[in-house]
Amino acid sequence: MYFGAAWYPEHWPEEAWAADVHKMAGIGFNVVRMAEFAWSSLEPQPGEYRLDWLERAIDLAAGAGLQVVLGTPSAAPPAWLTAADPETLAMDPHGQRLQHGNRAHYCVNSPAYQAAVGAIVSQLAERFGSHPAVIGWQIDNEYHRVCYCPVCRAAFQQALRRQFGDLETLNARWTTAYWSQAYTDWAQIPFPVGAHNPGLMLAAKRFVSESYRRFQALQIARLRPHLKPDDFITHNFFVWWEGPDPYSPAREALSQDLDFASWDWYIGQGHLDPVFSASAHDCSWGLRRRNHWVMETQPGTVNWAAVNNALSPGELRRMAWQAAAHGAEAVLYWQWRTMLGGQEQYHGALLDASGQERPFVQEIRQVAGEFAQASAALGGTHPKAEVALLNCYQSRAALTYQPHHRAFDYTTHLRHYYAPLLRGHIPAHILPPEAELAGYRLVIAPALHILTLGLAARLQAYVEAGGRLALTCRTGFKDEHNALWPLRGPGLLAELAGVEVEDYYALDEPVSVNADFFNGQATIWAERLRPRDETTHCLAVYGPEHGWLSGRPAISAHPYGAGWVYYVGAWLDDAAQASLVERLAAESQAAPLWAAPPEVEIGRRVGADGCPVYVVINHAGQPCSLDLPAPLEDILQGGTTTRLELEAQGVAVLAGLTW
Ligand code: GAL
Repeated sequence: MYFGAAWYPEHWPEEAWAADVHKMAGIGFNVVRMAEFAWSSLEPQPGEYRLDWLERAIDLAAGAGLQVVLGTPSAAPPAWLTAADPETLAMDPHGQRLQHGNRAHYCVNSPAYQAAVGAIVSQLAERFGSHPAVIGWQIDNEYHRVCYCPVCRAAFQQALRRQFGDLETLNARWTTAYWSQAYTDWAQIPFPVGAHNPGLMLAAKRFVSESYRRFQALQIARLRPHLKPDDFITHNFFVWWEGPDPYSPAREALSQDLDFASWDWYIGQGHLDPVFSASAHDCSWGLRRRNHWVMETQPGTVNWAAVNNALSPGELRRMAWQAAAHGAEAVLYWQWRTMLGGQEQYHGALLDASGQERPFVQEIRQVAGEFAQASAALGGTHPKAEVALLNCYQSRAALTYQPHHRAFDYTTHLRHYYAPLLRGHIPAHILPPEAELAGYRLVIAPALHILTLGLAARLQAYVEAGGRLALTCRTGFKDEHNALWPLRGPGLLAELAGVEVEDYYALDEPVSVNADFFNGQATIWAERLRPRDETTHCLAVYGPEHGWLSGRPAISAHPYGAGWVYYVGAWLDDAAQASLVERLAAESQAAPLWAAPPEVEIGRRVGADGCPVYVVINHAGQPCSLDLPAPLEDILQGGTTTRLELEAQGVAVLAGLTW
């Protein structure tokens, strides 16, 4: 396990650096991340590179036993660049160039900006690519800006031209006859500001993704030739970013060019929600199906929430171990030391403005010791699961544009399926829809709203070969252009599912849903299903007196090839949902790891030898005892045990033989 922090030596006089790195090493850190916002210190004037200070900082860190991750500084262009060439600045939706002095204020498609970035990245790569202490690189920082400038708009029009070939096709795919939108020249096509044609909006989102992919690729091309063979290149994504999300599809595409994905994990206001964060870890891991990094996490408080409350004692340790449980190989705090100035001077940091440790650092020290103890056992292991959930950023985007019910949120819907698995101790992966599915016993595809012919064919092949596929409401309604298929849901998968959606209802009041394994309620969404053939089983029906839904099938199961397809037309209450997911898992023979209360989380990582390592976290405020299914080695406490006593908020790491 790598454990460390983001450090900005450029904020401090050089005399202070040695004390910093020795304190880091004293805590038990073994990695430090630097330079991702340091452009103006690395190139104070055009072409005048000052890299010596960074080399001295890297050497100091290395001397203290720390390994180094370097960020490319493209998220923070220097003032001389944006002043000399204002077109390097991004433009807001109202046509105003952004002001210098925040960050990510660059135009991702600006040729001048790309040239300047290429030059500084080359300098860094040539100078530090072979440095023995540098183990990896982070490109930019949390891509997120959308630029509305004429260069981006023209590039968007060109991308559409390449994609569609002719305007007749584009007009047909986007139904531009509606509201007289038909385009007779590529130059007429706007870059959407606010709500617009759904086809145009999804195309624009893809274009932003592709723009960042090109921007990232140009940096990778500069870096890679200078790196040592084992050095990695990654990017720190937002994962379940619930705010404006301009680049949804990007994470899938962008991560393909990276060695692994990283993500930045902030709670902001409130406290750890184990389901939210566990699912984000799994999503980050699933982008490459490789162990990932938590490149930044919260050291106590943030400065940007409505209430910047502190994490409670024990919370930070649970967070660190939860990352490890879900395949993280590194946890780095943002940031090491409170900066005296700058917009984030009130953000949490390990050292306060006086340079002294904040109280929670004692907990970080404890985790450092524990990570060191468990590193050998965790080495070479990765999360193993028999269940996969498909996370489709395009479906998410389409449903975000048109939720049809204000509470229909795609990621909430996905986590509604994930939560019972986590609480039921059934490990799950969260994968892009294009991922290889062979080997999973159960694949859940929540609200797979956008369904292409290719994806439908791959899901069909998975089921034919014996897989179990659970489809949920709103699946298969749209094609890749965000246009409705001229079909009833689940569209291309209706034959597989053995049902069709006769109609769908955004619910303004709950509707009862009954099965022989639960009596529950639907809220938010309900679909009236019609079995398509006599082999379709009806697993649940809507209660009487619910208008068009009365007595109609709500959930179905249908054999297909050697497998089964479930269709869940209702958004169920939590208890009914838990029964449903438990049943789907049981029918798919995806068994729980072992019996434990729902607040106890069990993460399983498995090595090439098949031996599992379990990270067990008690998220509850009271202690608990667990019977283990076999004698397991207690890595943190020592000894072998068949019964685990966990204190409130306790953590255990257990290693065992496979059984
Ligand atoms: C992240 C960002 C960091 C820091 C942090 C504060 O989004 O990558 O540089 O600003 O937020 O919470």
